[in-house]
Amino acid sequence: MQAVKYIFQSHGDRRGQLVAIEENKDIPFRIKRVYYMYDTTAGVVRGCHAHKTLQQILICIHGSCKIRLDDGKDRKVISLEKPCEGLYISSTIWREMYDFSPDAVLMVLASELYDEADYIRDYNEFINFVRNS
Ligand code: TYD
Repeated sequence: MQAVKYIFQSHGDRRGQLVAIEENKDIPFRIKRVYYMYDTTAGVVRGCHAHKTLQQILICIHGSCKIRLDDGKDRKVISLEKPCEGLYISSTIWREMYDFSPDAVLMVLASELYDEADYIRDYNEFINFVRNS
């Protein structure tokens, strides 16, 4: 499965921590868009879609959450609990984000601008897309 947890270098000193992320260096794509989720309602599951071409890095810059991944063959769950951790998700992976802590801020670095046509929001359609591609 093309979903990998990254540990970004944290530049720590007595003042605290700092993480820097550069496109095509620390992550494998150019960043065209950044968005983030916060004040997530308890118990809610977000995402529940795949993308045809989009690649993303998810970083829980505050708090924690879990991500359920499914590439049509394998499934796995990744926890994001530290601001220096990132989850790379390639295209054509079904993702569901859940178990958000009340203070969670989940930031996403995306390889493309927002395009609803790139979304696959129906799971059966996703399975057919993976099998036919
Ligand atoms: P949605 O796709 O439902 O979020 P998720 O699947 O990650 O839980 O997006 C929520 C709303 O935000 C929806 O109206 C579309 C809008 N949106 C944008 O306008 N731009 C974006 O980059 C994203 C990710 C969402």
